[in-house]
Amino acid sequence: MAIRLALVGLGRLGYEHAKNIHYRIPGAELTAICSVRQEELDRVAQEMSPPVVTQSFNELLDRGGFEALVIATSSETHAELICAAVKRGVRHVYTEKPIGMSIAELERIREVIAAHPGITFQVGYNHRFDADLIEAQRRIGAGELGKLVLIRLASRDQRWVEENLVSFSPTSGGLVADMMSHDYDTARWLTGAEAVHIFGFGGVFAFPGLKAVNDMDNAVILMEFTGGVMVQIEASRSSPYGYHAPIEVFGTEGCIRIGENSFKDRTAVLDQQGVKRACTESFFAYWEDTYRAELNDFVACVGEGRSPKVGLEDGWKAVEWAFTAAEAVRSKRVLEYTPTYPGIA
Ligand SMILES: NC(=O)c1ccc[n+]([C@@H]2O[C@H](COP(=O)([O-])OP(=O)(O)OC[C@H]3O[C@@H](n4cnc5c(N)ncnc54)[C@H](O)[C@@H]3O)[C@@H](O)[C@H]2O)c1
Repeated sequence: MAIRLALVGLGRLGYEHAKNIHYRIPGAELTAICSVRQEELDRVAQEMSPPVVTQSFNELLDRGGFEALVIATSSETHAELICAAVKRGVRHVYTEKPIGMSIAELERIREVIAAHPGITFQVGYNHRFDADLIEAQRRIGAGELGKLVLIRLASRDQRWVEENLVSFSPTSGGLVADMMSHDYDTARWLTGAEAVHIFGFGGVFAFPGLKAVNDMDNAVILMEFTGGVMVQIEASRSSPYGYHAPIEVFGTEGCIRIGENSFKDRTAVLDQQGVKRACTESFFAYWEDTYRAELNDFVACVGEGRSPKVGLEDGWKAVEWAFTAAEAVRSKRVLEYTPTYPGIA
């Protein structure tokens, strides 16, 4: 029997999740949707006809009729919705990253999950579901690269519309804490190592309006991981050519590179001006398969009673590293990272 899913948040990402659940995940059924924006509810209701359609999260919980909840609301609501759902008896929760916006929120989530043993809790670090990265992680784990020396990751968003970025920024946590959190998680997962020192720089290069909301449009973070592995993470909101997310892992016995170029497809046009290739337009297009794969795995975890690949500890550490990185950039100091995750007894 299909696992019945409720989905809260139907914006940029929530709509992708709705389509994946409804059309592309055979073992799942979209039975309830919730969004505070009526026009988003109308669009999904007309297209997919879930039985429960509501603007109120409390009503969603009251009506029930689902086994698992997918949270894709704006970041500042995640902790509250996770805690409310688990306290009301929801046993399986997938949440978009970040899990919380403060250490106090992380602690509240941990306490609620610890008080309800057996909860399936998955965090939306979807890059871990990319087939090339999974293969790279296998090779690294098998020792094929020898001793790891350096890992470089970049995430360059195709140039945002400034007005959209300035209104989105305050709800997100900002470039260093929010957008780069995928890369902290990917670096930690690929290397199997933990952060020791964190440093970074950033600035406003393309969108002056970001200064008013205390954010930046380009930044680079340098980290030292356990075992001495050097990590460089770069992020941009102003790529002039398209979305680009190259990754390189360099070791004493070899090197892996993924996504070196931002090619949209396999077509090259050769003419008198030279060779032309289109660039990937958006992160959605680049990571599209991973959004389906992560929810597919979440549904399988619920069905099979197994633990998700990206859980509370991963979500906690990504947020904590993100806060430390943001503080390092702000203060222009090298910070030592002291983990606080207490685990669940
Ligand atoms: N994994 C990724 O690659 C990725 C990409 C984009 C966004 N995200 C994350 O996804 C989340 C959503 O981002 P987005 O860009 O889709 O945002 P968005 O602003 O487009 O959508 C937010 C949605 O949340 C709903 N909402 C907000 N508060 C609510 C509440 N209390 N009850 C019910 N609905 C509520 C809004 O109605 C809207 O549907 C963010 O946390 C973001 O960090 C992740």
